[in-house]
Amino acid sequence: MRARGPGRVNLLGEHTDYNAGLCLPFAVEAGVTVSAERSESGEIEAHALAYGEDDRFDPTDPQPAAGWRAFVRGTVAELNAAGTAVPGARLRIESDLPEGVGLSSSAALGSALCLALLAVAGQPEPERRELARLCSRVEHRWIGAQTGMLDQMAAFFAEPGHALLLDCRDLNVEQVPLVLGDWSVCVADSGSRRALAESGYNERRRECAEACTRLGVESLREADEGAAEGLPEPLNRRVRHVLSENGRVRAAVDALKTGDINELADLLDASHRSLRDDYEVSVPEVEHTIERMHAAGAAGARIMGGGFGGAVLALFPPDAQPPDDAVPVAPARGAHILD
Ligand code: GLA
Repeated sequence: MRARGPGRVNLLGEHTDYNAGLCLPFAVEAGVTVSAERSESGEIEAHALAYGEDDRFDPTDPQPAAGWRAFVRGTVAELNAAGTAVPGARLRIESDLPEGVGLSSSAALGSALCLALLAVAGQPEPERRELARLCSRVEHRWIGAQTGMLDQMAAFFAEPGHALLLDCRDLNVEQVPLVLGDWSVCVADSGSRRALAESGYNERRRECAEACTRLGVESLREADEGAAEGLPEPLNRRVRHVLSENGRVRAAVDALKTGDINELADLLDASHRSLRDDYEVSVPEVEHTIERMHAAGAAGARIMGGGFGGAVLALFPPDAQPPDDAVPVAPARGAHILD
């Protein structure tokens, strides 16, 4: 039994997911494959080729762990808690997705593990929103990263040829055809890596929660733009980013529907300025990569993912020659069973 979980890019809508906002991701071809085979030993034996390490534990008594092991133990524990009795199994984890560059290797691993363990337990697949929520609980409780639902929803709902308009207020999704003609979307690694849990990501979440308390709203989706401007620094700028980013996602969907790719490129640039100046999640290596992409002819470029390092997303017009380290990406299939 083999399951595949894809990495993802996010065209627009950054740091909006945990603010009940809008995102526009798509899955990429690169991802994580988990092979699972029932074992008589009753234990979970995980062999992670991707990390050159092994793990072994009793599925009914998973001890906390770090790194990829925490994903395996956490997914087993959350599946058990949700009523799937995970049997002893031998797992093999392979990946062709770089880690820590903003392509969400964690949701790729989480979604593949989830589907592989359900299959080995002989369980039919539950509703995919439930699976996305389960993978999100693994991130929160077992990894300590207070991430939103962007990555997990992209992993479970993405479709080839489409971007996924995701409304994090109700986890509603709409498939938006991604028709770019001869334009290309590329991802370039800034070379600067920082794990989400250690970075300012959780701090940004706290700032948004504080802004909500001060504004008397449940989420920033309900925040009033004018009222937000009256908040103290830096909360005013944090909210300004979130509200303007939701607007850019809507504008991007309109631009895609009318085939206005120049407009989409301008929205990427505007998103980057907002993430750099208002949300303050950029770093010098990322700025340098953005400049290089523009110098090579990108019509739009922005920091992607949680920030504080990681990848840059750039949109190149038909006549441009993207640099060698800018890897073209196209919308691929969401998490699925391979055989
Ligand atoms: C990381 C998180 C996501 C999302 C993005 C920022 O990728 O895992 O939930 O918050 O950062 O948009």
